[in-house]
Amino acid sequence: MPRSNALFISLEGIDGSGKSTQARRLADWLTAQGRDAVLTREPGGAPGAEEIRHLLVQGDPERWSPETEILLFTAARRDHLERTIRPALEAGRDVVTDRFADSTRVYQGATRGDLRALVDTIHSAAIATEPDLTLILDMDPEIALTRGLARNSGEDRFEDFGLPFQQKLRAGFQALAAEQPHRCHLIDADTTPDAITQAIIARVTRHLR
Ligand code: TMP
Repeated sequence: MPRSNALFISLEGIDGSGKSTQARRLADWLTAQGRDAVLTREPGGAPGAEEIRHLLVQGDPERWSPETEILLFTAARRDHLERTIRPALEAGRDVVTDRFADSTRVYQGATRGDLRALVDTIHSAAIATEPDLTLILDMDPEIALTRGLARNSGEDRFEDFGLPFQQKLRAGFQALAAEQPHRCHLIDADTTPDAITQAIIARVTRHLR
């Protein structure tokens, strides 16, 4: 019998903020609590969406306009939702995703012109789903950018927009947390990975049903 109390949690933040490590730790912690957690990510999280990911995270920063990016990220998200997120939640499994729609609201909606209205229109037409809880790792963009670029992952298209872009992103995520205080929570990420994990667990614990 699937659990009806499955939680959908997203982790958000600027590039290099340590989300992926924390998403993995959170999924492991949920599993250790006897829950069944699926760890996934965006762009990606399903085979077709992972193919779209390559188009988005590699290559020249100016390769796509922000408007085209909104459409590509949303196409990837729809595939992720249909094939991974919804089936997991319907089976009673928790879902922990490394990024979801808030990344589009901030990266495409609030950095290169004010495209938030377009993001919201496309989101409500094609996705119309929000996480139960969103944890935003908030940290100094200079440190995060150095860390992100040092990884040399070959997926640096957004890091290549430079520090002012990352500073706009941080401000965008902070504004989103203020706009949607019931769902989005800032987590201080200018600290140790263990302290971040503890802050995340404390926040998630309040939501466990
Ligand atoms: P990642 O490095 O966290 O895996 O994410 C890949 C990049 O894609 C990252 O620089 C953020 C960016 N991105 C957007 O610009 N919009 C989106 O909607 C998502 C999901 C990611």
